[in-house]
Amino acid sequence: MAIQLRPTVAEIRLSAVRKNLQKLRRTAAPARVLFVVKANAYGHGAVQLARLAEREGLAWGFGVSSVEEGLALRESGIISPVLVLGSLYPFESFVEAINADLMVTIASLDAARQVSQAAHRLGKKAVCHIKLETGMGRIGARKPSVLRIYDELSSSDAVSVAGVYTHLSSADTDAEYTAEQLGFFKETAAELRARGARGLTFHAANSCAAINVPESRWDMVRCGIAAYGLAAGYEPAMTLKTSVVFIKNVREGAFISYNKSFRADRPLKVATIPAGYGDGYIRRFSSKADVLIGGRRCRVLGNVTMDMTMVDVTGVRDVAVGDEVVLLGRQGSAEITAQELADIAGTITYEVVTLVSSRVPRVFVE
Ligand SMILES: Cc1ncc(COP(=O)(O)O)c(C=O)c1O
Repeated sequence: MAIQLRPTVAEIRLSAVRKNLQKLRRTAAPARVLFVVKANAYGHGAVQLARLAEREGLAWGFGVSSVEEGLALRESGIISPVLVLGSLYPFESFVEAINADLMVTIASLDAARQVSQAAHRLGKKAVCHIKLETGMGRIGARKPSVLRIYDELSSSDAVSVAGVYTHLSSADTDAEYTAEQLGFFKETAAELRARGARGLTFHAANSCAAINVPESRWDMVRCGIAAYGLAAGYEPAMTLKTSVVFIKNVREGAFISYNKSFRADRPLKVATIPAGYGDGYIRRFSSKADVLIGGRRCRVLGNVTMDMTMVDVTGVRDVAVGDEVVLLGRQGSAEITAQELADIAGTITYEVVTLVSSRVPRVFVE
């Protein structure tokens, strides 16, 4: 590993991820858990968490968004089932996916033909999950097309149709719409069974549905956010932390940061921390977010800059260069939650953690 001197790190607690996955497994059983580790496990480190889950049998397999993400898992030695949840384009991607034994999502007749041809050429089996559109409006085929895709794929001896799935758009906000989506899914499943389809894995639930909507669980649930502890009753796995690198006293009237974005209305003690929007600590947090130092909340002063942020440490006794700063997570009994940061930024917890940039080392701790 390259030398790491800068103290800004994202600490990932493996014990939290383990507990969360165990809880999801218990909740979803007998449905299996597909651990969604796309986008570097929502910023938490896909390879390390997939290794943990595989080693300890915490998940049946992994969900990724692209062939590239699937290949990264395979290259790191992951042998469990991996489902590429995104639409594969260009169609040459099928070759890479089949060669690496990645299961692919098929959402069009065109893709069905292409995957079958690719598998024939390679002399290998392509394992496919057909995606049904029930109201997410992203990728997916409507019921009549799904039936045609199923017929096309199941007529090919180079293809195995392993599953059929859909994605719920509003499991956390709209129970009625979710029920409607699940209704469409059930209808399609019944029609497929009526055509003699057997042994398919049906799946629809994301974390929220898996936890709160038992009838969404079917044969498998696809969970990301709860595994990272960002669902009620689950334990957050990420702590974003750094250290104080500079301290100064400023007089009343002094300006802090770009564009004079903060003006001291009294004498203050100000600490500079080496984290900014280049680390995913976004500019929306300027003058609004707090960090934890010495177990106390300290307000960000003025604009967050690319690499550094200034905070008010006037109330922190004996504050010194080198003191730990928590930007997200717990310090003693105090906590900055992802939800708090998401609310400040007008976004969702998914984005807060996923945005922690690649220059922030992930440090895995028990
Ligand atoms: C197709 C699909 N399934 C499952 C998930 C996991 O969702 P969550 O993180 O809410 O559990 C996602 C994530 O957005 C997804 O795109």
